[in-house]
Amino acid sequence: MKLTIFGTGYVGLVTGACLAEVGHSVVCIDIDQRKIDNLNRGVLPIWEPGLEAIVERNVAEGRLRFTTDTALAVKHAEIQFIAVGTPPDEDGSADLQYVLSVAESIARNMDGYRVIINKSTVPVGTADKVRARVEQVLAERKVEVPFDVVSNPEFLKEGAAVGDFLKPDRIVIGTVSPRARELMRELYEPFNRNHERTMFMDVRSAELTKYAANAMLATKISFMNELANMAEILGADIEEVRKGIGADPRIGYHFIYPGCGYGGSCFPKDVQALERTAQQIGYEASLLKAVEAVNNRQKQVLFAKLAKHFGGPQALRGKTIAVWGLSFKPNTDDMREAPSRTLLEALWQAGAKVQAFDPVAMEETRRIYPEGPAFSLAADKYSALDGADALAICTEWQQFRAPDFDEIQNRLRAKVIVDGRNLYHPERLRSEGWTYYGIGRA
Ligand SMILES: NC(=O)c1ccc[n+]([C@@H]2O[C@H](COP(=O)([O-])OP(=O)(O)OC[C@H]3O[C@@H](n4cnc5c(N)ncnc54)[C@H](O)[C@@H]3O)[C@@H](O)[C@H]2O)c1
Repeated sequence: MKLTIFGTGYVGLVTGACLAEVGHSVVCIDIDQRKIDNLNRGVLPIWEPGLEAIVERNVAEGRLRFTTDTALAVKHAEIQFIAVGTPPDEDGSADLQYVLSVAESIARNMDGYRVIINKSTVPVGTADKVRARVEQVLAERKVEVPFDVVSNPEFLKEGAAVGDFLKPDRIVIGTVSPRARELMRELYEPFNRNHERTMFMDVRSAELTKYAANAMLATKISFMNELANMAEILGADIEEVRKGIGADPRIGYHFIYPGCGYGGSCFPKDVQALERTAQQIGYEASLLKAVEAVNNRQKQVLFAKLAKHFGGPQALRGKTIAVWGLSFKPNTDDMREAPSRTLLEALWQAGAKVQAFDPVAMEETRRIYPEGPAFSLAADKYSALDGADALAICTEWQQFRAPDFDEIQNRLRAKVIVDGRNLYHPERLRSEGWTYYGIGRA
């Protein structure tokens, strides 16, 4: 089948590459000329395990093309995906300008039936707005062209995006149109060979399903962080509590790790957008507000622990802190809303110097925070420690899990670790003379 994807970011590029991988003919379009030029030279805009090889193979075999030419992209296929960004607006609601601008481009160029698929995360009611915008443009063009608008939210996880897309838990499709439904069924057929993963539902339910999923996951994290903070005061160990509740199959072990807060391009903005939706319909979403507030507070805990250790925020002036992990989670270079950023900025505000290392997010970090007297990026995890007064861990990359503590001790000025991901055993470290602070562990 032929299809077009608007937006070549994390979602668009992975979707395009994976749909080409199963044999479809895919055109990916973006308004960012540099991104498209790079992609045409084989340079990917993002770091995502396994993606480069798939892109390379499918480009070489002629199933995947990159362009900025809207007319060509709309002409290419009946199936048109929208996978552009939906960043938070000033009030936290989802900014739909990019989605609606794509809808307009499709409407300006379509000459026959099109199914327009929203893969971006968009508030309930967006399909209606897309439909209205397309109808408006078609009316201006004085043409009548049939089309359907479908919701097909994406559930991939950055860092495991290719695997998630190729082996999805579920494929949610919101449409009541038989024609669109048949096209979508055929498009996703290759992903349903083992068992049926596609769930058809009405458009609004599909739109809400995406927010429900992200809000639930964010709630689990904030719940654990709330309990972690209480455990610290109560003299309990949240890691024991985590195992104790995870054993209950109604709760499960997934996604109940306490830490230094959730980040990324999705949870923070999606929880906020759902809250704004609630506000717009006159509903008081108390739980969502709390989830967000707990997370904002949790992003401050690493700084608070460092400040307390040194005797107050003012005592951090002139200190050097080593930071391991900058991306918002392992296996990605995505720095959007990363807890590391809250820590870095608070440390600079307090007059401290930061020496940081991340296995893949260094370039992205440099783009956001240029190096200078208060900030340097180290070539490897141990060099980041040289002469630092403490080590803070923000991201649970594999290579931080079993480090050489003698090497750490030799490089640091003092044996202090503030661990935002509970990677180490407090007792073992303390017995070896470390001052060790985890999350939710007395
Ligand atoms: N990143 C994730 O893990 C993830 C997971 C599920 C859903 N989502 C959702 O998917 C959507 C896209 O997220 P992302 O992380 O891929 O965003 P992104 O910022 O990485 O990519 C968006 C791309 O769209 C392009 N774009 C903007 N306007 C355009 C237009 N008019 N025509 C063509 N291209 C245009 C941008 O240049 C950019 O390359 C968002 O709604 C997001 O919430 C993201």
